[in-house]
Amino acid sequence: MSNLETQLAELRQEAQQAIAHVATLEDLEQLRIKYLGKKGSLSKVLGGMGKLDATERPRIGALANEVKDSLQMDLDQKRDMLQAAQIEAQLEAEALDVTMPGVYQLQGRAHPLTSTIDRMIDIFVGLGYTVATGPEMETDYYNFEALNFLPDHPARDMQDTLFLPDGNILRTHTSSVQIRYMEENDPPVRIVMPGRCYRRDTVDATHSAVFHQLEILAVDEGLTFTDLRGTIKIFLETMFGEIPIRFRPSFFPFTEPSAEVDVQWRGRWLEVMGCGMVDPNVLKAVGHDPEVYTGFAAGLGVERIAMVLHQIDDIRRLYNSDLRFLRQF
Ligand code: DAH
Repeated sequence: MSNLETQLAELRQEAQQAIAHVATLEDLEQLRIKYLGKKGSLSKVLGGMGKLDATERPRIGALANEVKDSLQMDLDQKRDMLQAAQIEAQLEAEALDVTMPGVYQLQGRAHPLTSTIDRMIDIFVGLGYTVATGPEMETDYYNFEALNFLPDHPARDMQDTLFLPDGNILRTHTSSVQIRYMEENDPPVRIVMPGRCYRRDTVDATHSAVFHQLEILAVDEGLTFTDLRGTIKIFLETMFGEIPIRFRPSFFPFTEPSAEVDVQWRGRWLEVMGCGMVDPNVLKAVGHDPEVYTGFAAGLGVERIAMVLHQIDDIRRLYNSDLRFLRQF
């Protein structure tokens, strides 16, 4: 065997082994360049052809071509294999198991007090009311005096007020917003006033030192107690459906006559609001003539209404942020 023949045989063997062991397409390409490339091993071997005897040349040339073709075939085969394996691996990695349980994302939701306030507002907005708000820190004037609570009048005892060091108070009810609104707006007035209120109450199943009210106020010419009653009835029936309602005579300094409204819940009467015809002194305090205008107002307890709506037995559940409880709503 001539020297070149040996070289070609060795080259073929070496290349075949290398191709057999290669594991990636990139490495395979490197091998192709190394053995069959322009400056590759095969070219180098063939560089020696010139020195060959003319009778030898065709035979060696044919052998070189055969080596080249067979290596090219090995390379092609290996490339197909590696490509198939790559696709296989990709398919496996991206496989979607549609029977796998999903990842459950807990969704946030409105607190039952917030959603109750929203529902209440919606009903009054549907009746033509607009929303008004006021500060939670109030002066004695807006919380009491303008609402016809006389200084040192025992009516102030009804509301266990939290006093601030500067002489202001935390509002005990949303009725203060009535005054603030009427100071700025002439009749006709139809407003709904949601908000947080504060009292020095000992916390128990039905009392909380922080609670929510939703106040309504209508002032116009010719409003009567019938309008108040009809409005309250429509509100309660929209909120709860057909439900027994009771108006009970009561007293508030800022309304005359005054009433409290109960709904029947779990076999007993539960008070859900105070209401009445706006006292002439309140209209005078904001500069409206009580001979021309009359009005009605109501203060609804949001917690009470949420409790009836959702069958909640203890007001404290609405405040201790137990998600196991809150997620039900
Ligand atoms: N402000 C009263 C309270 O907190 C509730 C109330 C009663 C509001 C009668 C009213 C009303 O607007 O007319 O106890």
